[in-house]
Amino acid sequence: MVFVESIAVVFGLAASVFAAPAASDTTFKSSVFEKISTIPSAWTASKDLKVDKDASPISLRIHLVQPGMEKFLDMAMKIATPDHELYGNHLSQSVIDAMVVPKNSSRDLVLQWLSSEGLEKSATVSPRGDSIILDTTISEVEKLLNAEYTPFSNSKSGDSILRTMEYSLPDVLKGHVDSVQPTTFFGLQAMRSNVKDWTPNIDVENLGTDAVSAVTGCTGSSITPTCLANLYNLTSYTTKTQTVGRMGIGGFLKQHPVMTDLTKFLTNYAYYANQAMKYTCVLINAGTCPTTDTSSNIIEANLDVQYAQAITQNIPNYYYSTGGSPPIVGSGSNTNEPYLEFLNYLLALDDASLPNTLSISYGDDEATVPLSYATSTCNLFAQLGARGVSILVSSGDSGVGTTCNVNGVTQFTTSFPAGCPWVTTVGGTTGNSPEAAWTYGGSGFSEIFGRPSYQDTQVLNWLTTDTTHTAVTNYFNASGRAYPDISAQATNFIVYILGSASGVSGTSASAPTTAGIIQLLNSDRIASGKKGLGFLNPWLYSSAASASAFNDITSGKVSGCSGVISGGGFSAVAGWDPATGLGTPNFGNLLTVAQATA
Ligand SMILES: *[C@@H]1O[C@H](CO)[C@@H](O)[C@H](O)[C@H]1NC(C)=O
Ligand SMILES: *[C@@H]1O[C@H](CO)[C@@H](O)[C@H](O)[C@H]1NC(C)=O
Ligand SMILES: *[C@@H]1O[C@H](CO)[C@@H](O)[C@H](O)[C@H]1NC(C)=O
Repeated sequence: MVFVESIAVVFGLAASVFAAPAASDTTFKSSVFEKISTIPSAWTASKDLKVDKDASPISLRIHLVQPGMEKFLDMAMKIATPDHELYGNHLSQSVIDAMVVPKNSSRDLVLQWLSSEGLEKSATVSPRGDSIILDTTISEVEKLLNAEYTPFSNSKSGDSILRTMEYSLPDVLKGHVDSVQPTTFFGLQAMRSNVKDWTPNIDVENLGTDAVSAVTGCTGSSITPTCLANLYNLTSYTTKTQTVGRMGIGGFLKQHPVMTDLTKFLTNYAYYANQAMKYTCVLINAGTCPTTDTSSNIIEANLDVQYAQAITQNIPNYYYSTGGSPPIVGSGSNTNEPYLEFLNYLLALDDASLPNTLSISYGDDEATVPLSYATSTCNLFAQLGARGVSILVSSGDSGVGTTCNVNGVTQFTTSFPAGCPWVTTVGGTTGNSPEAAWTYGGSGFSEIFGRPSYQDTQVLNWLTTDTTHTAVTNYFNASGRAYPDISAQATNFIVYILGSASGVSGTSASAPTTAGIIQLLNSDRIASGKKGLGFLNPWLYSSAASASAFNDITSGKVSGCSGVISGGGFSAVAGWDPATGLGTPNFGNLLTVAQATA
């Protein structure tokens, strides 16, 4: 079913259902719909930036309430649960869209409201029917939403965006609209540690070969693909010439990889891989992929692409470069919300064009993400999972938090989308004798999403038997979705950046590492005529996988809240724990379970 219709057609329909109000109708009385009290970290108001709001375009996404969402989520969970009769029966997008279609009255009410404001010519129904898209100017949206957009700059990326701290909607739209963006959501940051971000020009020749490296392939404290292959039991797979499937990597904030760096990296560090492999750069919403750039624009993407490609060897890799924050000064600028653009782009792809696995190394403090945005975005992840995509997300690089104050309450802070129950969240480890929890690895219990049943057994076991966290029980919500689910190495990854080897740290490294390993499983299954694993978590936590397919990490601790909460953090202990989840992957054993799964 195609939903792209011009408003004239739709409104003609609506007018026959509703008595059209006069243009000056006062039934559209408004009140504040959403409000944020703090500017997210890394962003500051930049008052000196001059913006011509009449000349600044905006594509406003008015998301409609989807009454069938709970029913869909229930089915999506069954599809992902091994032993359920629906397991692996991934859905097409048209079936999902039909299940979650908003009420016509919701759509018509929004269109009627926009018409009464004289904006009907600028409105379209989104391709999947879940939103009304309004393409207009910032000044029109300010009037419409009773909002004030001001410029904010990001200290890390240098980007500037227009956002508002609050907006209003007509009361009559309550129960019909659940989210309007871009408004109050600022965007997600790359999950690289501020503490050990990267070290340029590592002296690769002098890394040396010591007794540990002879066994592990890990030189000193540095991580290479060979080292990961040894640690995670995939050396026996490094000669495979598997070519089916697609590995996907999400990229934002002008980040893009550089092909010559990948080639050099594969030549020097992944002797077994097809060194001629080239990723495909997919440009979404004016994203970019130039052949070179400044190092700060390529660290994240080079890390992601080099490790995903080295691990997946001959399997095609796709880098999705999503734009959305070009200069805002003057005309021709736009203010789109890149994360939603990215997910909507993927959901619009046909099944054969979807990646089987998606690695995402971007996130932000959960407390700075508006609830409506977090919920609707998490529901989009659930849809991708039900389509058959396995999604791996970095857990964050601030341990249990930095400032540890959420709206005046002293508590551990959590990350989004790490806390969304529909993604697989990957924490950090470091070292190899033994492999231990990385002190900065993101960890915690979501304050907005409840605990999904797939992790009840392991998390309840930890809550009731672990004695290392008794002093901090007041600082997290034990009934929230707990993360990470799994973990992987996070420090000193050797990455080529503009021709030279550098050391990069962060759970930004853990996500493409585990995503590459999951893609090997997905490709193996697809090659033997099975479906990909799709949304992973119920499978990961099932006894078949959790009993043997992970290296249980039992030493080290994630920490945080220094000076605010004494002893802030979580220790790695036997079994699942919020420091390292189920543990790090044992690929050989995971493959055995994946091959035995229906
Ligand atoms: C809702 O609108 C669609 C598209 O305009 C139409 O095909 C469908 O029949 C309508 N459904 C109801 C229940 O009116
Ligand atoms: C804890 O989390 C649950 C599930 O998300 C929520 O219902 C509850 O309100 C939270 N409690 C507190 C005190 O935040
Ligand atoms: C590695 O995987 C293989 C299966 O491919 C398995 O037989 C072996 O026991 C695993 N090694 C370890 C150390 O777990």
